[in-house]
Amino acid sequence: MKGVILAGGRGERLFPLTKVVNKHLLPVGREPMIFNPIRKLVEAGIKQILVVTSTLHMGDIVNACGSGKEFGCEFTFKVQESNLGIADALRLAESFAAGEKIVVILGDNITTGSLKQFVDEFEKQPKGAKVLLKEVSDPSRFGIAALDEEQIISIEEKPKRPKSNFAVIGYYMFDSRVFGIIRKLKPSARGEYEITDVNNEYLRQRELTYGILKGEWTDAGTFESLAFANKMVLK
Ligand code: DAU
Repeated sequence: MKGVILAGGRGERLFPLTKVVNKHLLPVGREPMIFNPIRKLVEAGIKQILVVTSTLHMGDIVNACGSGKEFGCEFTFKVQESNLGIADALRLAESFAAGEKIVVILGDNITTGSLKQFVDEFEKQPKGAKVLLKEVSDPSRFGIAALDEEQIISIEEKPKRPKSNFAVIGYYMFDSRVFGIIRKLKPSARGEYEITDVNNEYLRQRELTYGILKGEWTDAGTFESLAFANKMVLK
């Protein structure tokens, strides 16, 4: 299995911190934010990692990450030319994945937990996709899963009236069919290719499993969540 870290986007909610510095290079604890997703992939046994970022910040990202030697992995880098959404950034991973399953992490997702158990489970899953959930107190900020006793029924991106407090967080596992699904996507009302639409397509095909991440988790894309991420990892 291969890993993909998505570190594009404008980081607008953190402006002016992100005026010059890429969001994923801002400090979280003692390291740049992107080191957390890198370490989580390596810890789960993934050694080949693609990092996608914007044209503007590619140089800085490469400078910070290096070849991968420091982490025990090997990096490939690709440029997302316009910020057309998470699924658009993931589209760039097709030739890197070369038919293998992939584990995708959003570069601003920070956790003290481990992905290993879920990656191992997905290795054994014959096909489809797997997402991770976490209970949140502010569900309108996330992709939110409606659940029955056994399975996810639907996922709604940033719902006004959330059907649960379970967010689909930024750790996704996909088989190689994900790229065919992305090709058929239409941009959402906010003009982005949404990862939630990808997950809903797997759901429609009854091929989406889920796990609940143990340990602490947050995104770090707002001032409040960035401050929380710092406290969380420094503890
Ligand atoms: O943090 C989990 C949430 O992340 C999920 O619950 C949502 O379903 C998912 O849509 C996403 O929501 P956000 O609004 O927080 O996503 P954001 O636009 O902040 O993008 C998250 C990361 O994805 C960002 O740090 C870099 C990457 N990204 C984003 C965009 C829009 C790209 O690489 N390219 C892009 O064009």
